[in-house]
Formats: sequence, C-alpha cells, structure tokens
Amino acid sequence: MAKILVTGGLGYIGSHTVVALINQGHEVCIIDDLSNSSLKVLDGLEKITGKKPDFCQLDLRDLEAVKIYFSNQTDIEGIVHFAASKAVGESVENPLLYYHNNLTGLINLLKCTAAKNFIFSSSCTVYGSPDDLPITEDAPIKPAMSPYGNTKQIGEEILKDVTLANPSLNVIALRYFNPIGAHHSALIGELPIGIPQNLVPFITQTAIGLRQELKVFGNDYPTVDGTCVRDYIHVMDLAEAHVIALQRLLNQTNEDKFEVFNVGTGAGSTVLEVIHAFESVSGLKLPFKFAPRREGDVIEIYAHTEKANKVLGWKASRTLDEALKSAWLWECHVRNIS
Ligand code: NAD
Ligand code: WQD
Repeated sequence: MAKILVTGGLGYIGSHTVVALINQGHEVCIIDDLSNSSLKVLDGLEKITGKKPDFCQLDLRDLEAVKIYFSNQTDIEGIVHFAASKAVGESVENPLLYYHNNLTGLINLLKCTAAKNFIFSSSCTVYGSPDDLPITEDAPIKPAMSPYGNTKQIGEEILKDVTLANPSLNVIALRYFNPIGAHHSALIGELPIGIPQNLVPFITQTAIGLRQELKVFGNDYPTVDGTCVRDYIHVMDLAEAHVIALQRLLNQTNEDKFEVFNVGTGAGSTVLEVIHAFESVSGLKLPFKFAPRREGDVIEIYAHTEKANKVLGWKASRTLDEALKSAWLWECHVRNIS
C-alpha cells in the first residue's frame, strides 16, 4: 500500500476517488485550494472511511508553496491530479484563468515531485466531435472546442513530453466521459457553485424546487429522439478506475510510459432518456421544455471501452438508474430532505 497525493481531492471526482483509494488500503493526502470545494467534504470522507486524510490548503499555481509541500512530503509514491478549473463556458469568457490554472498547476507539480506514478484527469472533450462511434483512444485529437478542452489536450502533450525526458516518470491519462451520481452514503457528491451547467445537477436541483424547469438544449438532432447522446458514468465506477490505473503504475505493469484510457460505460443515453430514468427512480415528474441547441454541443459521443476493459481489467458496473438515484439522494441530503 502506498502514500498517494490527490490534488483537487475535496472536489467532486477527487473526493470519490479518495474514498476508493482508502478502501483499497492506500494512505491518502490531499491538496486543494477550496476554489470549488468546501472543507465540509473532509467530514464526509471521515464518516465514510473512518479516516481523515492529511489535508493541505494550497494553490498549485504557487510554485514556492508546492516546493515546500514536497520538501516535507518526501515519501509520496503516486499522484492523482484532479485540481483544475472545469467550466467550459467560463473558459471561453476567461481563457487566461484556464490556461494559468490548469497548466501552471500541472507544471508546478511536475517540477516539484519525485513521485514516479501520475494519473491525469483528461476528458472526452479532447476528441471534439467524433467521426466514428464508439470513440476509441486512437481517434484523432481535433482542434479543441474551448480553452478548457485545449488545456486537457495540452496537459496530455506536456505529460507525454515529460515522461520521455524523465526516465522514472510513468503517466496514465484517463479520458472521462460524463461523470454523474454520488457515493451511496450520500455523504459526498457534486456541489456546483451557482447555476449548474451540467445536466444531472440541473435535473436534481429542478426536482428539489431550486430551479423552475430544465431546458433541454435541442430536440432536432439526428438521434433516436432528437436530443444529444452522452456516455454517463457513475462517479464511483470512475473513482475505481483511478485506483486500478494507479495500481498498474505501482506494479510497473504498464506497457508504455504514457498511456491513455477512455473511462465510460460504452453506452450512450439521450437527454430525454436521462430525464425519464430520473423520473422513474425518483417517482417525480420533472418540469422541462425544449430550448434551442447549446453552442458547442457535440451531437453524440460515447466511449469504446475495450482498452480499459481488457488492458486495465476495469469495467463500469453501475447502471444509469443507480447513478441517478444516488444523485437524487445526495441532492436531498444537501437540502436536508429525507
Ligand atoms: P471539481 O471542481 O469538483 O474539483 C476540482 C478541485 O480542484 C476543486 O476542489 C478545486 O477547489 C480544486 N482546485 C482547482 N484549482 C486548484 C489549484 N490551483 N490548486 C489546488 N486546488 C485546485 O471538478 P471535478 O468535476 O471533480 O473534476 C476533476 C478533474 O476532472 C478536473 O481536472 C476536470 O477537468 C476533470 N474532468 C471533469 C469532468 C466532469 O464532468 N466533472 C469530466 C472530464 C474531466
Ligand atoms: C449533457 C447533455 C446538453 C444541461 C461537459 C463538458 C465536458 C466534460 C463533461 C469536463 C448535453 C444537455 C445540459 C441543461 C441540457 N467535462 N443539457 N440542459 O456538455 O456533455 O460535457 O461535461 O471535461 O468537457 O463539456 O455535459 O452535462 O453539460 O450536458 O439539455 O441544462 O445535456 O446539451 O446534450 P457535456 P453536460
């Protein structure tokens, strides 16, 4: 069992991954600047795991602070790097914030750490609009559709180059599809600040009465019901993929120094299918109306998962219904409704 640093470990995917890492017996330490998370998450982590991970509030853009951190933490064997800004629309309005945060944070970590094993949060957004479905890892990387997407493409390129130059560094980039849901305890989950941009938190906030109705962006797409198709993956399945990928590096069973895996379920669902599944697991009628297409949305994308299934030995096991049910339980927990 190893000591693992999770950057952005109080955020949505990071916190669920901390649970999965502790469940696997790893010792976890967390860096987070709390720019998109709260200290309360530490309490949730302690309640679920019985352990309070070592936490350091630190902005990864601060090179001196990162240097000092690693000079005190010399026995970190692996890093799971989540810390980044992630709102696509905001990245269009404020590209420098995104290039600065997502790239400087990554570069500072790489400058300061001696850890040999590094997992990077990448995204299906690197593929842009796919030519073939399901999309494989060797599909062409097209020009990014947003500064955010570009930071993920550049992040992968930086890591590829650094692994070539650094004989001891090994990296796995995981390209997530659409993570949704929460830990079944409802003690941790997704907590968007302000109006949610993503579908599932908007659905749960509408169902709980915080939003009047959901706007379905576009119903004239060439899909089964006219709405866009995405590969929605339960966040705990995604969290477990990190543990398995990290173990591959710790065991030195990786075939290349820089590897990439899609992390999705392999199946697509339309927006209307998600709404209807949510209605069925919650027993509620969701108010929604059709609205114009959202700029920048790809019509349809879902993962080819054979590489992750065969090479990593990982497969998503939870259903869309389970994910939506857990998202709903979490929303009720956050709003104190039982
Ligand atoms: P999140 O915002 O919930 O978590 C990110 C965490 O990093 C937050 O707690 C934030 O406070 C912290 N952070 C941000 N900048 C920091 C900095 N400079 N120093 C220290 N901490 C910092 O986001 P998430 O949904 O958990 O996403 C985690 C990672 O996964 C991100 O890299 C994101 O780009 C990537 N990703 C997310 C999705 C998604 O749909 N949620 C999909 C694909 C990839
Ligand atoms: C899903 C579907 C919307 C909200 C984003 C990022 C991507 C990745 C995952 C980080 C789409 C529709 C949504 C609403 C709607 N993140 N929708 N009404 O756009 O697939 O991906 O998160 O890497 O980079 O772009 O996810 O949840 O925003 O949208 O109809 O109020 O739901 O049009 O078809 P998306 P999403």
